[in-house]
Amino acid sequence: MSAYFAVAESSALGRRPLGVVLEDRRIALARDEGGAAFALPDLCPHRGAPLSRGSVIRGRLRCPYHGIAFDGAGRGHAPPWMEGPCTLRTEPLAVHEAMGLVFVAREPSAPLPPRLASDGWQPFGLAIDIDAPAVEVVENFMDSTHTGVVHAGLIRTGDAGQLREVTIEADERTVEVRHAAVDEELPLVRRWLGPGAIDHVDICHLPGTVEVRYAVGGEPFFHVLVFVTPRSATRSSVFVRGAVRSPRARALDRFAAAGAALVGRRILAQDKAILEATEDAVRRAGSRPLAYQRAEAMHPMVRRLLRGEGRVESARVRVRL
Ligand code: FES
Ligand SMILES: [Fe+2]
Repeated sequence: MSAYFAVAESSALGRRPLGVVLEDRRIALARDEGGAAFALPDLCPHRGAPLSRGSVIRGRLRCPYHGIAFDGAGRGHAPPWMEGPCTLRTEPLAVHEAMGLVFVAREPSAPLPPRLASDGWQPFGLAIDIDAPAVEVVENFMDSTHTGVVHAGLIRTGDAGQLREVTIEADERTVEVRHAAVDEELPLVRRWLGPGAIDHVDICHLPGTVEVRYAVGGEPFFHVLVFVTPRSATRSSVFVRGAVRSPRARALDRFAAAGAALVGRRILAQDKAILEATEDAVRRAGSRPLAYQRAEAMHPMVRRLLRGEGRVESARVRVRL
């Protein structure tokens, strides 16, 4: 499945090249003279030096070994010692830069990542590396049954919970999980949010993006995109881009965004801890139990679609969260 994956924060890519890893492949990132990011395999087609250790000169990535300079289209340009024009080329990867992130795709035809709500919304961003396969990390962000346990007190209270009607719909590239509106207490948050039932939707944009939207009384107030990047078969990076907007107390939005980032950082640390502990247990046991219950119908759907095993049926479940 061709897709754009977030490989770096835009702010990490300045005048020097930057080496990143995607699915075990090393990639060199650089910026051309106009500031546009480009991506080349981190292996010079001359004699194999890592281009990410080179330098950027006039918008071209110069190899640290013999000085051949590559432009964003992958064309090599001759250093003074070379007779005649340089015929060496390398195959660039597709690059898309948005929301303060550099995305890379193998194929330029890959669908662009979803966009974060922007007009009048207060943004925040987070990132973390997790020693777990990307599919397990994606599942965690689609997984509402762990929130009252792992994130007790942060997302949900963890006690009896409220019964929610959940509708799951899927096509080849997305699995959408809608939680019908319920009246939640949220004592502190209510001052910012105002009254009204809260509904929320989680959308998995296969293979690696989870979108979360919350609304109060039908008005959206919280939007998060979680970009999960497979660095290797056992290691992932998570880049979170979020935004908030109160339907009625906009003056508090900056504080709400800062609060969301603070809570978000804690949540990511908790997810990292449980995911890495789980991977450790699974590795020791040599097998991964997947005994999904009815309320967890979205997970086998995501796995099935990721493996390209064809269509999945929509489902309705009830879950107490
Ligand atoms: S290895 Fe890159 S120029 Fe020689
Ligand atoms: Fe979590």
